[in-house]
Amino acid sequence: TSPSAAPPAAEIGVIGGSGFYSFLDDIEELRVETPYGPPSDLIAVGELAGRRVAFIPRHGRDHRYPPHRIPYRANLWALRSLGVRQVLAPSAVGSLTTDYGPGTLAVPDQLADRTHGRAQTYYDEGGAIHVSFSDPYCPTGRHTTVGSAQAAGWDPVDGGTLVVIEGPRFSTRAESRWYASQGWTLVGMTGHPEAVLARELALCYTPLCLVTDLDAGIEEGEGVTMEEVYRVFGENIGRLRTLVADVVKALPTERDCPCPHVLDGMRLLLELP
Ligand code: ADE
Repeated sequence: TSPSAAPPAAEIGVIGGSGFYSFLDDIEELRVETPYGPPSDLIAVGELAGRRVAFIPRHGRDHRYPPHRIPYRANLWALRSLGVRQVLAPSAVGSLTTDYGPGTLAVPDQLADRTHGRAQTYYDEGGAIHVSFSDPYCPTGRHTTVGSAQAAGWDPVDGGTLVVIEGPRFSTRAESRWYASQGWTLVGMTGHPEAVLARELALCYTPLCLVTDLDAGIEEGEGVTMEEVYRVFGENIGRLRTLVADVVKALPTERDCPCPHVLDGMRLLLELP
């Protein structure tokens, strides 16, 4: 950016459910266009504890986009174009172990991708760019989130593997048991390609997974229902919002994690915003 460029609209991005609007002060709503089309909705930009924060409702305000239709590329691109460099990503997940019941906050450190057909890269033409993804999440963001959660009285799960399924249906019992047998601990529908697209833009990305249910394979009885997921998420949205605000306050202003450097030395044909 040139010295005369306007200051960034935001430094921290939050991609979450629509229950997150109310935690920002002095909100301005921005319509952002990207080479990948419009993001899920207008982006709310505001202030929280002296930090500039941008918020995107992942599914759109009216819950227009099911997980496999979310414009993930546009969302991350739009955040970066506003100046965002650190992304917090709260979401509802199922648990693949009886150790983590509904209401648990988990900050996984691994991801397994079981989605298909989703646009999952910015680098699909004009040269090969292969980003490292062995550790898919920002170590500083994870550490800060676990610490803030502990300080706020949660008993957060630090680590584990989030398997991301294509959905929009929930898993069969057989699929669910198979995921658990791999040692995977959480199951969701939106964590991929969100995390890898953040990585491809050299952003920090931290998942805040709220367990809403025990997935089909580990529970006797009816299996997961949408009603259950929405109800438990609704019951916990207040404390999750408070936690996200705490993490925003606690995130360091300077990034000393590996995330900003993932593209160092690569010949990008794409000009990042
Ligand atoms: N989101 C919340 N609960 C889920 C589950 N059991 N499977 C997939 N995504 C979910």
